[in-house]
Amino acid sequence: MSDTRILVIVGSLRADSLNRRIAETLRTQAPDGVRLEIFDGLAEIPFYNEDLDGEEVPSAAVALRDRVADADRVLVVTPEYNGTMPAALNNAIDWLSRPYGVGALTGKPFAVIGATPTPYGGKWAHDDARRSAGIAGAQVLDGIEVSQSALAGDILADEEVVGRLLGAVRALADHDPEAAAA
Ligand SMILES: Cc1cc2nc3c(=O)[nH]c(=O)nc-3n(C[C@H](O)[C@H](O)[C@H](O)COP(=O)(O)O)c2cc1C
Repeated sequence: MSDTRILVIVGSLRADSLNRRIAETLRTQAPDGVRLEIFDGLAEIPFYNEDLDGEEVPSAAVALRDRVADADRVLVVTPEYNGTMPAALNNAIDWLSRPYGVGALTGKPFAVIGATPTPYGGKWAHDDARRSAGIAGAQVLDGIEVSQSALAGDILADEEVVGRLLGAVRALADHDPEAAAA
């Protein structure tokens, strides 16, 4: 059987991003039969504008749509900015939501996790990303929620935390879209 391919979209653009490091750790430690691919082009995607979304869609947005359409699942790993998701991630969801009703996210199993150095771990951002992706047509999976506080130090050196993050990957990979639709 072929691997389950999960496209990972990281909400932070900075080089030393904790959420990017989480995504890389999950890619390295992915369970058997699961392949994580990190989408790298978020910074190149222009702000969504219906005038741009015509016959000549910007190539960076086309690349995002193609990668999502091609993946079996989508996992967002994101911090929180000012109580919600970073604008770059929100913008990606906007591009993925169109054409209306048939965007690349339509019916795609989708989950959101992440960490911030605060007690709440970015929970508002994660809730907002789930709600927005659901409106955009994604099949947001219930019960996959890891909003990890990174206040205590290096969370990636903590086996229990990494185990929880990997549990989210496993739950996303194990989800059966056909059974859910039946
Ligand atoms: C513009 C901005 C707004 C932020 N707002 C929040 C916030 O609302 N909640 C929160 O938990 N952390 C907030 N933070 C802190 C980020 O969670 C922290 O910088 C985190 O490490 C960013 O993730 P990254 O390491 O993956 O880049 C904010 C940071 C920035 C730069």
